[in-house]
Amino acid sequence: MKGAHAYAAMPIDELYRWFAGEADPTSPTWGDLCRWVADTPALLARLDALPGLKRQPNLFLGAIRYLDGPLVGGPEFLAWVDAHWDAIEHLILTRFTQTNEPGRCAVLAPVLASLPQPVALFELGASAGLCLIPDRYPWLDTPCLDVVHREGLDAHPLDASSPEDARWLRSLVWPGEDAREARLSAALAVAADDPPPVATGRLPDDLPAFLEHAVATAARLGATPVVFHSATLAYLSRPERDAVVARIRASGVRWVSFEGPTVVTELRGRVPDDGRPHFVLALDGEPVARCSPHGAWADWLR
Ligand SMILES: C[S@@+](CC[C@H](N)C(=O)[O-])C[C@H]1O[C@@H](n2cnc3c(N)ncnc32)[C@H](O)[C@@H]1O
Repeated sequence: MKGAHAYAAMPIDELYRWFAGEADPTSPTWGDLCRWVADTPALLARLDALPGLKRQPNLFLGAIRYLDGPLVGGPEFLAWVDAHWDAIEHLILTRFTQTNEPGRCAVLAPVLASLPQPVALFELGASAGLCLIPDRYPWLDTPCLDVVHREGLDAHPLDASSPEDARWLRSLVWPGEDAREARLSAALAVAADDPPPVATGRLPDDLPAFLEHAVATAARLGATPVVFHSATLAYLSRPERDAVVARIRASGVRWVSFEGPTVVTELRGRVPDDGRPHFVLALDGEPVARCSPHGAWADWLR
């Protein structure tokens, strides 16, 4: 993820050229479109006028998919954007990039199953809560995992049973990432029957009350309280991340962290880097695996 400052401050053509390079490996469609955008002043003027963080390419690209727009640059694309700009701008201004990746459950589930059962799960930055239901996915083998309670917290919760929210989540998957799209659609279908509850709350300010609630709820149910977060702390400043970790540690809950290798201060440099993009999976501050950021593989350390 590019720092918030870059989205707000980078010259807009440079931002789209940089993003093309990010997209190229898995989505040449978005890579090509972003390069075309970067060379199209008429469109850049509109995108540059968006406020601060709303200049991030993922929001514009997500809006195009949400509205079933064309995926290839050129005069037709420009005409389509002109005709649909009000709807595009509305989506950009009201939505956020909050990709929910159920693939992460494949690496989270074994760690959750290794704890004393049953467990009560509490996720920070849960989006639509698709990582809160690993035991409900028929494609995961989780016989040892007994979840008696699940609950998320998010600055902008999504509802897996809302067609609009589900469509937005699907729109955030890049064209060409077919396996992710299929996994997300399948997970949304499972979640829609009984959407995991996700409360509105902002980290770090709303964390103390959420932790207190987690501890009390788990005690009432005779369950192990587990607080976890994946691909969430990167959105916080370093002091905010450190405050979140200190609060979790002081609360006495079990803590599962799944973040980029430099995101959690105390986990930096603890897992050897083999050059592949990876996340670090940790239990109570001890690294347990180096994993693909979307959960496709794991090198278990213990
Ligand atoms: C990339 S998504 C990850 C969602 C989910 N954990 C997963 O792994 O699929 C990050 C989520 O964190 C939420 N988030 C970002 N900053 C936050 C904050 N300060 N407080 C609460 N939620 C936040 C976003 O709204 C978003 O839903």
